[in-house]
Amino acid sequence: MKILCFGSLNLDNVYQVEHHVRSGETLASQSLTQYPGGKGLNQSIALARAGANVYHAGQIGQDGERLVSLLKENGVNCKFVLQSQERTGHAIIQVDQNGQNCILLYGGANRTMQPAWMERVLAHFESGDILLLQNEINGLPFLMKYAHEKGMQIALNPSPIDGGLFSLPLDTVRWFLLNEIEGEALTGVKEPKRICQKLLENYPNAEMILTLGSEGVCYQSKDQKLVHPSYRVPVVDTTAAGDTFTGYFLAKISAGESVSYALECASKAAALAVSQEGAAPSIPTIEEVQRFDFPARE
Ligand code: RIB
Repeated sequence: MKILCFGSLNLDNVYQVEHHVRSGETLASQSLTQYPGGKGLNQSIALARAGANVYHAGQIGQDGERLVSLLKENGVNCKFVLQSQERTGHAIIQVDQNGQNCILLYGGANRTMQPAWMERVLAHFESGDILLLQNEINGLPFLMKYAHEKGMQIALNPSPIDGGLFSLPLDTVRWFLLNEIEGEALTGVKEPKRICQKLLENYPNAEMILTLGSEGVCYQSKDQKLVHPSYRVPVVDTTAAGDTFTGYFLAKISAGESVSYALECASKAAALAVSQEGAAPSIPTIEEVQRFDFPARE
């Protein structure tokens, strides 16, 4: 089974700050580092580091070659990464003293994809293959509809959340991987247990994976309901924790592992990611996940 991650590739400019800058405030940062990122790229790397057979499709500008090199170094097939006239997407990320981030995005080349090219890419995939999507590229309605008609299985991480998500054909989604904020936006419901329930009422054939930060993760499908705790780790930078979780979870599920094992691996991988700086560089290898020995939260 092949996994196609059709998603963003960003250059992340990460500023260490005492606190996130407030409206009207001018704030000096303590440092600036540029890392590879983008939810799409991060999730492809997490999939590959977890051992999946992954293809990345997306667009960069002339300034984005190092992103492709990193994907290739990690074993991601990049034959569907295209260079466009637009500059590479980028993110301005502030990380505060507690490791919490806030992110401003510039879509750039991520948002200039053409449907005819998307169709040509999908022609290389078959019924049963997985299409993984986030919300940082244009053309999601087309990709979802076309992939669904081909019989591909769709995994959606609806991040970042925006009004456009409501016009997507969400009934084509097999796995929703989302956090509380995204869950609340999609359902209008605040309480985590009710978010999964409400999503299932709307999309009864889908599987819901709701990450709750230090509260762990809830999984619910029409046949199964599970919770898995988070782990106690030092928090350095939470950027890409969700991406790491998504990549690891899907890699394990696509390898035929049980949902409970996939949740455990993905939770450990995400915990390791928050204890390192940066997006892609913080994603652990499968060997690091196997050596994991931090305690679970009660
Ligand atoms: O999820 C983290 C990612 O969000 C960053 O790498 C940034 O590029 C934004 O896409």
